[in-house]
Amino acid sequence: TVLIVDFGSQFTQLIARRIREAGVFSEIVPFQSAEAAFKRINPKAVILSGGPASTGDIGSPRAPQIVFDAGVPVLGICYGQMAMCVQMGGVAESSDHREFGRAFVEIQKDSPLFEGLWAPGQRHQVWMSHGDRVISLPKGFEVFGKSEGSPFAIFGNVERKMYGIMFHPEVVHTPDGARLLQNFVHKIAGIEGDWTMRAYREHAVETIRKQVGKGKVICALSGGVDSSVAALLIHEAVGDQLTCILVDHGLMRKDEASGVVEMFRQHYNLPLILVDASDRFIGALEGESDPEKKRKTIGRLFIEVFEEEAEKLGGADFLAQGTLYPDVIESVSFTGGPSVTIKSHHNVGGLPERMNMQLVEPLRELFKDEVRALGRELGLPDSFIGRHPFPGPGLAIRCPGSITREKLEILREADAIYLDEIRKAGLYDAIWQAFAVLLPVQTVGVMGDGRTYEFVCALRAVTSVDGMTADFYHYDMAFLGAAATRIINEVRGINRVVYDVTSKPPGTIEWE
Ligand code: XMP
Repeated sequence: TVLIVDFGSQFTQLIARRIREAGVFSEIVPFQSAEAAFKRINPKAVILSGGPASTGDIGSPRAPQIVFDAGVPVLGICYGQMAMCVQMGGVAESSDHREFGRAFVEIQKDSPLFEGLWAPGQRHQVWMSHGDRVISLPKGFEVFGKSEGSPFAIFGNVERKMYGIMFHPEVVHTPDGARLLQNFVHKIAGIEGDWTMRAYREHAVETIRKQVGKGKVICALSGGVDSSVAALLIHEAVGDQLTCILVDHGLMRKDEASGVVEMFRQHYNLPLILVDASDRFIGALEGESDPEKKRKTIGRLFIEVFEEEAEKLGGADFLAQGTLYPDVIESVSFTGGPSVTIKSHHNVGGLPERMNMQLVEPLRELFKDEVRALGRELGLPDSFIGRHPFPGPGLAIRCPGSITREKLEILREADAIYLDEIRKAGLYDAIWQAFAVLLPVQTVGVMGDGRTYEFVCALRAVTSVDGMTADFYHYDMAFLGAAATRIINEVRGINRVVYDVTSKPPGTIEWE
């Protein structure tokens, strides 16, 4: 195991990810609890992450001394490099020459860290994000490379296997960064890269068993990849101590609820309760056109329905959630700043406290594509794993203005045709997310020889890596024309189709 000490960098999870990609298991702990973690894990190597602090600040974080005393290889990245420097007896200060973004390091001396990768005299692109720099090195340390702003951009002590780098090897903008981290874990720390998703699965199952013991777990299954993978993993760990509840709020895509239920009951024999609460949700939403109120109503009802079902089961000790790392806005306390609510995302937040349950979140450390790999490992079919994300409030936020059953029905049909066309054209996997939106606008058209006055349907498709930013998908016009024709011909109530060419930002992916 590699222990990653988190100083609050926004990239810490990426370090873990690169280490996993190198076939090595790692664990991230906040610096405050790193000492206990070190003793518990007995890691073969330690990586100190970057962070927003400056070593000169009063009370700025440090790594526990045991990390440097134990004789294990240590790699300090960015702030981690500074912490290593001062804790080993060197001096660092904040620098006027701040380097952010793309920079170059000039290699001055061979080092095991970049053996087989970089050689003296070469320049290599790296990604910097820091304002501190080293003034004098700790005893026994030497410099291997410099950058414009830092004469000590790469330093280390070969004998003690300690290295510090000023740049971020974990981000893609440091093209050789992943291989550099591989060097560190494979060559310097001598850890074999034999860790796989299978091993992760076993580790996760073990962890769940330890946490849950003989307790009862309930899981809100949405049919999305995340909650599905979480449910399968927990089922593997504790069998029928788990019950899944799928709340059909009547805002799902066409045939969605039944399809999901069938897959889980037939292929996995997973205890699953389907609750048809569509009347309740749609009844409460009818006439509501304020986007935030729609979301809040759905969130509140979801909790109510879920709670009622859980009570029927006699309660539970744990609530399972498919929370992924990007959903986790946590990390070390001093980094937490206020962020503006753009939309109140619907999840089952609030439930655990109310029902006095603990959370089981087996995917908390993973990124979306890793969850997909884990899903494959658990035998989920590719067609299921590759599914586009679908928001919790469902079609309600794709029907701007007031919601009626009739509108939802029209939208469901149009959406199904649109997705069918996308699949037929072989475009599904190239698109991050695609869906239809039913606008609260009617326009005049002519069909046959008659006048029509019907709704406008907007089509949306975006490419994205993580949903945080997105570009609209650049379809071939012929494709759009064909999809529009089918929708207008086959769906009663729509007589016009438009395509949304807004990126995010400034738009969001959903319309509400
Ligand atoms: P936006 O519209 O914020 O969406 O650009 C980004 C991603 O999040 C999904 N989304 C949601 N997912 N509950 C969810 O589970 C929600 O309330 C919610 N709102 C948006 C959206 O589909 C896209 O993938």
